Amino acid sequence: MKKEDVTETQEEVFFPSPEIVEKALVKDYETLYRKSIENREQFWADEADKLDWFRKWDKVLDDSNKPFYQWYTGGKFNIVANAVDRHVKTWRRNKLALVWEGEPGDTKTYSYHALNREVCKFATVLKSMGVKKGEIVTIYMPQIPELPIAMLACAKLGAAHSVVYGGFSVEALATRIRDANSRVVITADGGYRRGKVVDLKGIVNEALIGAPTVEVCITIRRTGHAVAMESDRDFWFHDLMGLPIATTSCETEVMDAEDPLFILYTSGTTGQPKGLVHTHAGYAVYAATTLQYVFDLREEDRYWCTADPGWITGHSYLVYGPLLLGSTIMMYEGAPNHPYPNRWWQMIEKYGVTILYTSPTGIRGLMRFGEQWPKRHNLSWLRLLGSVGEPINPEAWRWYHRVIGGGRCPIMDTWWQTETGGFVITPLPITPLKPGSATRPFFGHEIAIVDDDGKELPVGQEGNLVLKAPWPGMARTIHGDPDRFKQTYWRQYEKQGWYKAGDSARKDKDGYFWVIGRTDDVIKVSGHRLGTAEIESALVSHPDVAEAAVIGLPHEVKGQAIYCFVILKHGKSGSKELEDKLKIHMDHQLGAIARPEKIDFLDTLPKTRSGKIMRRVLKARALGQDVGDISTLEE
Ligand code: PRX
Repeated sequence: MKKEDVTETQEEVFFPSPEIVEKALVKDYETLYRKSIENREQFWADEADKLDWFRKWDKVLDDSNKPFYQWYTGGKFNIVANAVDRHVKTWRRNKLALVWEGEPGDTKTYSYHALNREVCKFATVLKSMGVKKGEIVTIYMPQIPELPIAMLACAKLGAAHSVVYGGFSVEALATRIRDANSRVVITADGGYRRGKVVDLKGIVNEALIGAPTVEVCITIRRTGHAVAMESDRDFWFHDLMGLPIATTSCETEVMDAEDPLFILYTSGTTGQPKGLVHTHAGYAVYAATTLQYVFDLREEDRYWCTADPGWITGHSYLVYGPLLLGSTIMMYEGAPNHPYPNRWWQMIEKYGVTILYTSPTGIRGLMRFGEQWPKRHNLSWLRLLGSVGEPINPEAWRWYHRVIGGGRCPIMDTWWQTETGGFVITPLPITPLKPGSATRPFFGHEIAIVDDDGKELPVGQEGNLVLKAPWPGMARTIHGDPDRFKQTYWRQYEKQGWYKAGDSARKDKDGYFWVIGRTDDVIKVSGHRLGTAEIESALVSHPDVAEAAVIGLPHEVKGQAIYCFVILKHGKSGSKELEDKLKIHMDHQLGAIARPEKIDFLDTLPKTRSGKIMRRVLKARALGQDVGDISTLEE
């Protein structure tokens, strides 16, 4: 896109400064993009070559069993050999790997040497507990350094990890442990959030009642509050790490390129969450490549991704991506506005953060306190900003750009998903930006907006977002349910072999993509992906509830908020008191992130003749809109 085109159409476009262009890693998107499409496999081979392999691959892409694509087959690899081991062999041994601050203000820093030492020690401990290749360890922790250490220790041994977000509660955790069949759970006694202790170990203890596969639970002491420990199952992390068996060197397991690195649960259209499987090699290549090009990471950067490692953003761009590139990462345990709404801005100043990657909900949440809070701080180290998780509204974009970025930092609005492993639609620092658009496809991707039959739609028309070609960071399957993987993502465009993202979007005349939102029963609450079905089943598990329907409604800060419609069991009647009780019940079952904004009690729910709840009707009614065609509605 050229500047002249823009003045003609009066569009709001932000061009990068000559200084950014001059220093940028990629100065010409079009040429490299074309190359990456014309010879996709060569592009991904060149990128893979930048990492260390125990043995190079035989084949870059094996597409003989679509849609179960395989990458770098025949290769021997371990992500930890690249994220930690190779750095300690160079001067980076003395570089800061992690700068951490707890909510109460305590701090910890780890050089790559120290990170390696802790990972090795914990890996030997896990090994002594019998942890090995092929098993899935569940990790349920606050944002403390031991969380990435635990992830890396599992990966080092070749065990897959399943990190469950610390904001989830008993039932959500139990379901995920059961699905993963975990024998070992790693947790902490608690964490700090808004000055309060979150009793994680208490939640684990309750969840374990419903997860009988667990034999060992290792607990990190963070808050020091009293917790119940069972003598033959529970171990304190510090006790184990103090044993002579916890040694500072530990072999990194040689893995096949396609061996699983982790599973990460995400919500879909049924109540059962999907455990998406990501692999050691393809995922590592993809996370490192995308982060390098998009955030243009340099040796001297201090990079802060505010996401929790319990979500894919934390996996790819807090833990693995930046460590693969040998960067210094920043991590913070608590709430953005604790004790005051300047907490983040204070930390950016204090640690000299140069790149901030966060979510629109994070920005909106702090924007409402006014610009006097960031204005008190020197944010001049910042050079790049990022956004992820949901579309960023132009008002928040402009505030982020002007107030936080001082008008000089480009915003990388990155569109991607748990399934994609890394950025798919994203600007580069040199890309002219339009507030609210994630701009153009990343290298190697061909993206289209199509109708239900796969016909490409004209410029400006909204339709289904599809990815036409495989990429190394793609999820390989759903743990234990390959059929669901096929059905969910590949079935609709089977003939064409395209991946259906489940998002609705449009493309403008400059080839910029504008993502509108999900087309399925997934809602994004503060950027967190929640399935309406999982929320509904949590509601129905309350003894007074007969049936429930859940929709997402627009919310100023959260993006979307949870709105519930409930039919009570015979003889029960709705009241404010019951609404509050149900909210507490939801906190216990799923976690505070799934707490409904509002619960309405109804006598009937609008259903089709085949018994499907018409959420569209509920939504229109709640928004005071026309309910549209209701000819299929049951009498
Ligand atoms: O709807 C899109 C939205 O988040 C969904 C993926 O959610 P999850 O798997 O939790 O991953 C979030 C972090 C990568 C997408 O289907 N989404 C994510 N990023 C953006 C977005 N929508 C618009 N713009 C974005 N930048």
